[in-house]
Amino acid sequence: MSASTSNSIIIVGAGVFGLSTALELKRRGYSDVTVLDRYNPPAVDGSSVDISRIIRIDYADPVYCQMAYEAYQGWKTEYKDQYYESGFALLSETPNNDWISKSAATVRANGGTVEDLEDGVMLKKSYPNIQSNLGGMSGYLNRRGGWADAAGSIQKLAARCSVAGISIISGPRGSVVSLVREGSRVVGVNLANGSSLRASQVILSTGAWTNRLLDVAHAASSSGQPVGFIQLTQDEARSLDNTPVMINMSTGVFVFPPTPGSNILKVARHGYGYANEVTVQDGGASRTISSPKFDSSNSETGYLPEDADEDLRKGLRQFFPEFADRPWLNRRLCWYTDTPKGDFIIDHHPTLQGLFVATGGAGHGFKFLPVLGKYIADCFENKAPEELRQKWRLQPAPRGASSAYSMKGDGSRAGPPLRKLTTMEKAKL
Ligand SMILES: *[C@@H]1O[C@H](CO)[C@@H](O)[C@H](O)[C@H]1NC(C)=O
Ligand SMILES: *[C@@H]1O[C@H](CO)[C@@H](O)[C@H](O)[C@H]1NC(C)=O
Repeated sequence: MSASTSNSIIIVGAGVFGLSTALELKRRGYSDVTVLDRYNPPAVDGSSVDISRIIRIDYADPVYCQMAYEAYQGWKTEYKDQYYESGFALLSETPNNDWISKSAATVRANGGTVEDLEDGVMLKKSYPNIQSNLGGMSGYLNRRGGWADAAGSIQKLAARCSVAGISIISGPRGSVVSLVREGSRVVGVNLANGSSLRASQVILSTGAWTNRLLDVAHAASSSGQPVGFIQLTQDEARSLDNTPVMINMSTGVFVFPPTPGSNILKVARHGYGYANEVTVQDGGASRTISSPKFDSSNSETGYLPEDADEDLRKGLRQFFPEFADRPWLNRRLCWYTDTPKGDFIIDHHPTLQGLFVATGGAGHGFKFLPVLGKYIADCFENKAPEELRQKWRLQPAPRGASSAYSMKGDGSRAGPPLRKLTTMEKAKL
């Protein structure tokens, strides 16, 4: 049964999943929509924040490729002020990288164009300012693609929510510590300020924090992925004018062109990441999960594990040899919500009534910002095509499931396997 538009709806989490859902539900006539988060959007330690996210239509999976095309239209129109079409190049040290080949075929099957790069040096014909030599690498270039100002896009989306009449509450009044259950029904949320809020429907778009509120450890786990920023001068930034977003599919390391105006260079890794093992209390029982901190910001300390720092440095040296020794302006772990095959989780809870889950971004959700809410609202209203409902289903937990933190995603990751942070490392987070 779908919810009535006069029902009260609480959306927990003001990232790209939560805000896009809120706006779409409001557009569909739901009159009472409230969004709660620990921080004001863009949440400082969420995964919908900072200076850039890759915008690509390149996917091995035809479903996401098609969705990304649709989102791309939104980036070219509604969100054009936040979008930079630099082009996107995928490169690998090994010829015929499986994911790259599949992605090229999928893009072509969807009517797109990619330019094969038998050798990476070919890329320098289109982009002479690339510093790296790229010899011996191969892959392809898609000129349709680039990056978006992540914080700016979320700000714009949040402003639209406000204008539409959606309350966005943050701080202790917006920090959800647990769900209020009555039997097999979720009827609201308990807040860090000691009060609770009731609602007919609770939607969890809590990203990497989801397992703290609801046991979905069989379906999603959080991993921290390293990100580093470097300050360039105006002239240095200019020397990298007209360069594309590039990913090294052999290491998972990817880089962006410098941001116009602020001249910041960003390097990150789309890998298997780090698990932060914590024990949470849940209705008398305790569970051990991987999750970022809840009580304080995860981007405050700027800490990265030493091996992550070294690998980012190495990536920087490979892509931008002239800036390889620059000190970091800032560093952080960006918290992904990984799922076994990289599929989102967008579904009514299989056994708890009044609860809907929209999470599992698996490190590739942001680009869908212009269209994600529509897909989520379709699932919420039980209108989505069967194929999508199956794909994004929240499977019931198998009996006696032990939570494995390693969820490998869609085959696009590279780099070292997932590693649990040590006690010493955790103390520095
Ligand atoms: C806690 O926050 C909620 C808003 O989310 C508010 O309605 C309630 O009055 C607050 N309670 C206290 C004790 O401040
Ligand atoms: C990509 O990674 C491979 C494997 O570590 C490395 O040999 C190559 O130099 C890297 N290239 C770039 C441009 O990052």
